[in-house]
Amino acid sequence: MARARKHKKGGEPSAPRNRKGGAPIIEMRDVTKVYPGGHMALDRVSLAIDRGEFVFLVGPTGCGKSTLIKMLIRELEATEGSVRIAGRDIGAMSEKKTPNLRRNIGTVFQDFKLLPDRTVYDNVAYALQVIGAHRGEIRRQVPEILRLVGLSTKLHSYPDELSGGEQQRVSIARAFVNHPPLLLADEPSGNLDPVTSIGVMQLLYRINKTVTHDREMVDNMRRRVIELYEGRVVRDEVSGGYTEESTSECGLRMRAEMGVAPEGQTNGHDSHDSLF
Ligand SMILES: Nc1ncnc2c1ncn2[C@@H]1O[C@H](COP(=O)(O)OP(=O)(O)OP(=O)(O)O)[C@@H](O)[C@H]1O
Ligand SMILES: [Mg+2]
Repeated sequence: MARARKHKKGGEPSAPRNRKGGAPIIEMRDVTKVYPGGHMALDRVSLAIDRGEFVFLVGPTGCGKSTLIKMLIRELEATEGSVRIAGRDIGAMSEKKTPNLRRNIGTVFQDFKLLPDRTVYDNVAYALQVIGAHRGEIRRQVPEILRLVGLSTKLHSYPDELSGGEQQRVSIARAFVNHPPLLLADEPSGNLDPVTSIGVMQLLYRINKTVTHDREMVDNMRRRVIELYEGRVVRDEVSGGYTEESTSECGLRMRAEMGVAPEGQTNGHDSHDSLF
């Protein structure tokens, strides 16, 4: 699922425009990724995600979700095709600009990538330290975001003292603490059960509503499901905005749409793995 907020500046003048006049926050054109050894993980994937969209990337294990996310932060390069972020072709960008790209994209990795020898507080503070935030700002923002994700009582715990769901919430807090214009979350497929997984989606939805002060953008929020199968986009559906929906209503709707029964039974569709 990708959550994109508006940039103050638009994209490059030459970049393709969406309805609102800005370049899509993410645009992939005929992207193919062949890993060394010959496995084709993505096969001519084309998609465009607008600012303000809330997108689920779903599909069975091995279909290419993590590969796609890694291409957006330049951890992997496309074998063919182009990847644009906010109108910039990141494949054509100099290596020097990669850290700047990553500063603007909050990423929740499938394996969380928490620092094992740092506390919850320090793991989140670290994300602000590396961008040169002032100490006062760090002291203000870290407890605030940890409160939002429901971890106020775990500030001094270490990652190995947390459950998988709690570790993921630390990872979300770290990705979001500097309010990046784009948030990507690669959800673990094995680590979390579907119900916990939906709880995480509700959490992201709530964070998004809480920190977004741009009313117009929230009103325009659409929800979209893109499905991959064997490296190809096989479904891309958009539904309307859900501005007035409560967090629990959102959870119920997601359960229904993602095929997860209240007891946590799935319909056999491995669809809780998401790109945010
Ligand atoms: N470094 C790599 N080298 C070779 N093949 C790889 C590499 N990483 C992933 N693959 C293969 O590419 C395909 C897509 O992998 P990817 O990790 O993107 O799947 P995924 O959709 O994220 O799966 P999951 O739901 O299990 O996380 C898989 O068949 C995988 O085995
Ligand atoms: Mg994956």
